[in-house]
Amino acid sequence: MSAGRDVGGADDVAAGVWSRVCPSDALAERGDGVRFEVAHRGGSLPAFVLRIEDRPVAYLNQCAHVPVELDWNPGRFLDDTGTVIVCATHGAVYDAADGACVGGPCHGRGLQQVPCREADGWVEVRAPLAPPR
Ligand code: FES
Repeated sequence: MSAGRDVGGADDVAAGVWSRVCPSDALAERGDGVRFEVAHRGGSLPAFVLRIEDRPVAYLNQCAHVPVELDWNPGRFLDDTGTVIVCATHGAVYDAADGACVGGPCHGRGLQQVPCREADGWVEVRAPLAPPR
């Protein structure tokens, strides 16, 4: 995690915060993502969740090259293979399963994960949510 933020980090873990993002069936395997906002230091950070290999994975919606949002259209993060996330601005390529940089101008810097799980039919992240912008 190279962005240096503490999303889902010590403070949030200590608070035991798990927040519902969406129902589990809102995420299709390697389909479009669900966008959400993480509350952070009085503001918010854009984030998203995808279903990859039948488990939810969540990341901040911020490219490691330039801190802009990644999606081509709202919720559209994956390429046609469904295996990589491609930044819409300059084409940095990230492994969809773990957010690692696999090519382009991310230069080895991966996406920042947000701890994520499924519980009782919901996709949850270990972070407080902020209202959508
Ligand atoms: S801003 Fe994402 S590749 Fe440049």
